[in-house]
Amino acid sequence: MVCQAERTADVGQSPAVRDLPAIDWWTMLADPVFLESPYPELARLRALAPVHHDPVSGVYFILGHREFARVSKSSAMGRDTRLWTGGWSSPEYAAEDPVGFRLYSQFQPQMINSDPPDHGRMRGVYEPAFHPQAVAALEPMIRAEADRLIAAMPDSGVIEMIDAFAGPLPLRVLRNLFDMPEAMDDDIARWSAALIKIGDIMMTPEQKHDALDALDTFKAVLRRHLAERRGCPHSGLIGRVLVAEETRVLDEEETLTNLVSMLVAGHETTVTLIGNGLLLLLQNPREMARLRADRGLMRTAIEEFLRVEPGGNMILRIAREDMEIGGWRIPAGAPVVGLIGAVNRDPLRFRNPDVLDIGRTANAHATFGGGIHFCVGAPLARLETQIAFDALLDRFSHMSVAGRAEWRLDRINARGLGSLPVQVGAA
Ligand code: HEM
Repeated sequence: MVCQAERTADVGQSPAVRDLPAIDWWTMLADPVFLESPYPELARLRALAPVHHDPVSGVYFILGHREFARVSKSSAMGRDTRLWTGGWSSPEYAAEDPVGFRLYSQFQPQMINSDPPDHGRMRGVYEPAFHPQAVAALEPMIRAEADRLIAAMPDSGVIEMIDAFAGPLPLRVLRNLFDMPEAMDDDIARWSAALIKIGDIMMTPEQKHDALDALDTFKAVLRRHLAERRGCPHSGLIGRVLVAEETRVLDEEETLTNLVSMLVAGHETTVTLIGNGLLLLLQNPREMARLRADRGLMRTAIEEFLRVEPGGNMILRIAREDMEIGGWRIPAGAPVVGLIGAVNRDPLRFRNPDVLDIGRTANAHATFGGGIHFCVGAPLARLETQIAFDALLDRFSHMSVAGRAEWRLDRINARGLGSLPVQVGAA
């Protein structure tokens, strides 16, 4: 990423933002102390201003809820990363980081990185696979996978819940959605772990190579997988993809990249939601008891987990045209990053924002993004999490944290647990 300070310095800032203190943003965002407990610092920065600018990287950071809602929905703000001045698709970046350039170029042709009309063309292929009726049809499969994992657990003792439950469940659900054999679980897990780092500023050259390898290998596997199914009657996600290929709505690169992205977008995010949600309940026993007493609160509880511990910390936009917001004039071509941990706890939008209230209504969190890119897999993530928590609460009448829950400190664009040991007791 190339410094944009020259282009953006003194462009239309209001006096309120002109005097903001200088912040070493990327050092701060990667600091283990911040990663362990980011919310006090995010609250301090949001109180200073809802929108900040880092003159070193050129990034505009959005911390206010109202401002993020505007940015995420505005047609002036796109997602086509090729429009990013000095960004992942630029000649400057190609010269500075050829491996990163290859990685991002190969990962580019997909809906999350596209603006209209390409975005709508691609999204139209996948969205029906996540409509409420289609997702409801997946319920028996999700329940069966959750039950299998729960059945393998002891009745009492300490269980490492990320390894035993939160990790494998979303992987198995996606593998079923892809119509792939169980024997591929380990491979899929490995590719997912390598690919999830894409976009993280902490990504090392070695991790870029690993991600490129995973991308190439997974695409080759998917190419064979689709070829074997071509011409056979098929339904579900893969069936929709085959029809889109046959009717040339998608070309091969778009087909494969969107499918790879489905794994990246849908795996770790859901692991994180289940893990973070469970930790929140364990840390708030009264809310745990409330949910046990009234499972009707499950729907609002899950939205509250998503708000309080969003998992995905950063949502990207690229300015397609100049836009005035929060005292700044953001120029076309500039990267804009919503810091969701700050947006979701904005006291101007949420009462007692740091408090977990599983009955909270009108919970307009930003964890699934906004506008035309609003997470297409949200209905699946919500159903899966609901089934996961029902299964856990049915099986164990007692759960408490045993030892230290450990946040992963090796990434800055996602906040999830590496370890969550839980003491359980049977119902
Ligand atoms: C808790 C789980 C999940 C979270 C927190 C999450 C979050 C997000 C976010 C923040 C975006 C970008 C929104 C924006 O830019 O405004 C997104 C987009 C997307 N998500 Fe999810 N996601 C989750 C689960 C899933 C699942 C299960 C799938 C599919 C299996 C999925 C597939 C996608 C796709 C394909 C997009 C791109 C949509 C577009 O560009 O139109 N996600 N998700």
